Parts: sequence; structure tokens; C-alpha cells
Amino acid sequence: MQANSRPVSSNQHHLHPRLAEVVRRHLQTTHRGAMAAYNIQAYRRLSTALSATPRPIVLDSFCGTGHSTAALAKRHPDHLIVGVDKSAKRLAKHSRSVNDNYLLLQADCEDIWTLLVGDGLRPDYHYMLYPNPWPKAAHLQRRIHGHPSFPLLLALGGTLELRSNWQIYVEEFGCAMHLAGHRGCVLRVANTGSDLSLFEQKYRNSGHELWSYTARVMP
Ligand SMILES: C[S@@+](CC[C@H](N)C(=O)[O-])C[C@H]1O[C@@H](n2cnc3c(N)ncnc32)[C@H](O)[C@@H]1O
Repeated sequence: MQANSRPVSSNQHHLHPRLAEVVRRHLQTTHRGAMAAYNIQAYRRLSTALSATPRPIVLDSFCGTGHSTAALAKRHPDHLIVGVDKSAKRLAKHSRSVNDNYLLLQADCEDIWTLLVGDGLRPDYHYMLYPNPWPKAAHLQRRIHGHPSFPLLLALGGTLELRSNWQIYVEEFGCAMHLAGHRGCVLRVANTGSDLSLFEQKYRNSGHELWSYTARVMP
């Protein structure tokens, strides 16, 4: 990946002034988007894999090419790692490693989250690595914590880890979690010499500061 990515530029320099209002509204409502058929089909692949070998789940939402999904499969050998991304183009770039305890689904995360919650399936770990930042202030509701599906994340529970190269995004996420009654931790992502995802690699090689939010969420 290239090392010339520009830092996030935004017309928003602090937490969004409407963050609390938007999050509180979503916490009081149930997200009911129309469920696309391709998401139901993708979810069937997950159900089939779990029926064949029942295992606890690790979710890698917004997984891009699935580079992180393969890395997480090594980190969690006794789990089924489920990478979800809506982009067929990104997923097609995945080159499968020898490890086969993971699955890549082309689907919208919100619908997969809805189906998991509906079936009472809770991931042990839920990674959200470098989601699109939507840095324009007008796009708050496209960010994970500003989206109506945010309560589904809480219903899924598990050990959550969100990473971003935009500090404000991570801090906003932490505030939204706090408003929902969950305390977590915002930290710089340490440089261990091995990047978990391709965007992490690109941002680090471009000299960006990387941030993470982690929390243990009991649904
Ligand atoms: C910036 S990339 C990060 C990819 C990967 N996590 C990484 O760190 O290399 C964000 C990804 O989120 C995906 N995405 C955005 N909205 C999505 C949604 N609602 N459901 C599934 N994937 C989505 C995009 O297709 C894109 O691959």
C-alpha cells in the first residue's frame, strides 16, 4: 500500500456539537432498515459454517480486503472469524492464507449485526478497523456512533475495538459509548512492527497518529 496518504481533514475540529442529541435519539429507537436479499444470503454462509463446527465468533466489521480477518484468525485459533465488507472489489483482492478458521462476507454490516442479534449470536470480540471517517460535520450520522444502527453494536456486545487515524472519530465513539452506559479506553495504537490491517499500514507509513477505543461490553 502507498505511504502518501493525507491526514483526515475536516471542517469539524472538536466533538460534534449534536453528538449527544443524535446518539440519545438512536438509543431510544430500534433500527429498522430494509433487509437486502444479498445480506440474508451472506448470513446463511455464516450460519452454515457455525452449524458445521460450532465455535465462538470474532467479528471483523468493515474488513476491506480481509487482511485483518486472516491476521485475527491466527490470533484467535479457536474462533470463527467473520470479516464483513460491502465492497466486492475490495474482497476480491483477498489472497487466502492456509488458515481456514475465517469467512469473508460481502454484505452490509448493519444487516449482519441485525441478523446476529436476532439469532442471539454474540461475538466474543468485535473489531472495527479504520471505518470510513465521514469527516464533514454534516455527515455525523454516517459515522458508526452517529448511525441509527449504533444500538445493535451494544446489543452484540463483546470486547470492542475501534481504530482510526482521526482522533476525533475515536473520541466521539468513546463519548457515544459513555452515553450508552459503557466505559472504555482511548489510546494510541502501539507500533508493534506488524500492522493489523492494510489501512493501518498505509496510515502508519504516511506518518499518521493512530488511535483506538476498546471496551468490554456485556449486552
Ligand atoms: C477505510 S476502509 C478500511 C478497511 C479495513 N478495515 C482496513 O483497515 O484496511 C473502510 C471499509 O468499510 C467498507 N464499508 C463501508 N460501509 C460499510 C457497510 N455499511 N457495511 C460493510 N462495509 C462497509 C468499505 O467498503 C471499505 O472497505
